[in-house]
Amino acid sequence: MPPPPPSFEALAASTSAPPASLAPFPVDAVRGRFPSLARAGPFIYFDNAAGAQAPREVLARVAGHLLDFNVQRGGRYPKSVEVDRVIAAARGRVAMLLGADDPAEVAFGMNATTFIRLVSLALGQTLQAPRDEIIVTDLDHHANISTWLELAKTGARISWWRTRDDHRLHVEDLVPLLSERTRLVACTVVSHALGSRVDVAAVARAAHAVGAEVFLDCVHYTPHASIDVKAWDCDYLVCSGYKAFAPHMGFLWGKRGALERLPTFREEFIPDAPPDKIEAGTFVYENVAGMAAAVDYLDTLGGELDPTAATARARILAAMAGIEAHERDLSRAMLAVLASVGAEVYGVAEPAAVHRRVPTFCFNLPGVEPAVVAQGLAAADIGARDGHMYAPRLMERLGLSMDKGAVRASLVHYNTLGEIDRFAQALGALAK
Ligand SMILES: Cc1ncc(COP(=O)(O)O)c(C=O)c1O
Repeated sequence: MPPPPPSFEALAASTSAPPASLAPFPVDAVRGRFPSLARAGPFIYFDNAAGAQAPREVLARVAGHLLDFNVQRGGRYPKSVEVDRVIAAARGRVAMLLGADDPAEVAFGMNATTFIRLVSLALGQTLQAPRDEIIVTDLDHHANISTWLELAKTGARISWWRTRDDHRLHVEDLVPLLSERTRLVACTVVSHALGSRVDVAAVARAAHAVGAEVFLDCVHYTPHASIDVKAWDCDYLVCSGYKAFAPHMGFLWGKRGALERLPTFREEFIPDAPPDKIEAGTFVYENVAGMAAAVDYLDTLGGELDPTAATARARILAAMAGIEAHERDLSRAMLAVLASVGAEVYGVAEPAAVHRRVPTFCFNLPGVEPAVVAQGLAAADIGARDGHMYAPRLMERLGLSMDKGAVRASLVHYNTLGEIDRFAQALGALAK
């Protein structure tokens, strides 16, 4: 028997210091690759969870596609042949980003929500007693809850895997929920609202032990750390380009067998095989080209951080290790600022535990409405967000109202400690 894979805690903690071979994170040079950052002048992008900026190669690839190849696939003329090539290449690049071997397991589409709905509609048709249960969580974005709750109308049994008082999902609480009834566990890889990470490899091990499948919402995780669908052993995984330095588009990965079994809608002339059976109609080719360029950006960054990385996958891993290390510095600084103004932080708040989170911070200032805080930050040229974060179940769990919610400041690797200093000043002026 192969030894069990290392625990999430061991893996996460082991990356708390970047590998010695990795160059220091060149945040100024990185920022230079994002033209929108310079164009924004003093404005600070702290709302990256709602969409990150795109590096130069992404802008160039999208514009180049529209300029020279804005035609339909499947024609015999060179421009159309080129679009086919671009899409095939993008599938390969995204598969590599995910750690998948088979590009046909990657489907492109409009966004994450429509993919979750597509899978839930298809999977709903396969639900049969005694295997008719879907487990959802109270940490997830509503896109990965409501789509599954919908299946209750046609007889699915829904069970809830709930967060503990530390605002984290613990796999020990999932295990007793699992049984031969469980068809699927739908959960996030990291909370888009709180930034807390979930041990998804352990989720898959527990779910598979009872013959259930796992659907992972990887939308918020993608810009922050490396994805490995083989090590995680999930069955489906969904991402959105606009959080990952690419334009608006989405992609779904699934194990080939799982995708083959899904009874999806397709016109009769569409092949009954992935990816075609998962891709209804025309998707936005220029944005798929842009997504491939975002992977190229990470590939280049990884090569600079670790010149010994010999393969594209090794360079992606180096890029994400460098990003994670820089983001942990940002997290520690943000937690110190939030503590200094007496903010209530929802989610992981101990500086020693930043490996359990990404730099997405949900908080409230005592006695100050979230809208007033977000407005005050906006007046200081800082883009953050207030509200329910599309997570009504989580708001309820945190004792927050849907109309007010909380404030969220969400950082990515191009953010700096200097920006956090300005955030600290602005927040300090708003605190009572
Ligand atoms: C974790 C998570 N899941 C799902 C979604 C929905 O993604 P999309 O807008 O691509 O449908 C979001 C959007 O912010 C998200 O953060």
